[in-house]
Amino acid sequence: MLLAAQTGANTRVVEYFAFIHDLGRRNDDHDPEHGLRAAGLARELAGELIDVTEVELGLLVHACEGHSEGHLEADVTVMTCWDADRLDLGRVGIVPDPSRLCTAAARDRDLLAAAYRRSIQGFLERGYGCRYLPTS
Ligand SMILES: [Fe+2]
Repeated sequence: MLLAAQTGANTRVVEYFAFIHDLGRRNDDHDPEHGLRAAGLARELAGELIDVTEVELGLLVHACEGHSEGHLEADVTVMTCWDADRLDLGRVGIVPDPSRLCTAAARDRDLLAAAYRRSIQGFLERGYGCRYLPTS
């Protein structure tokens, strides 16, 4: 939501993306089809548990389908979804690479550092070390 406020993304789509984009995972490791399964889930739940317009559903489906493909160009709402997910990579011990973020807002040094600090909390609590601990 912090990133969406900067980019002007559709917050309804971003919020639904946050909830469902990894629901199609079959494991927490390599699972290249999980985005497609999440997109299918979005289509299934639209009109029931997911309250979106047709345009919003198209954005949500696109965001889910492509969220682990490394794309950098899309509608601003889709890019915001992808960036929000990438800014949370500290959860699995990965430092986000600014060159792999879509929006200037996500590449902002302060936002990136704050997101990384938040993302590593669970990783640290599980006893893992991090390659990079931001100082600001
Ligand atoms: Fe994912």
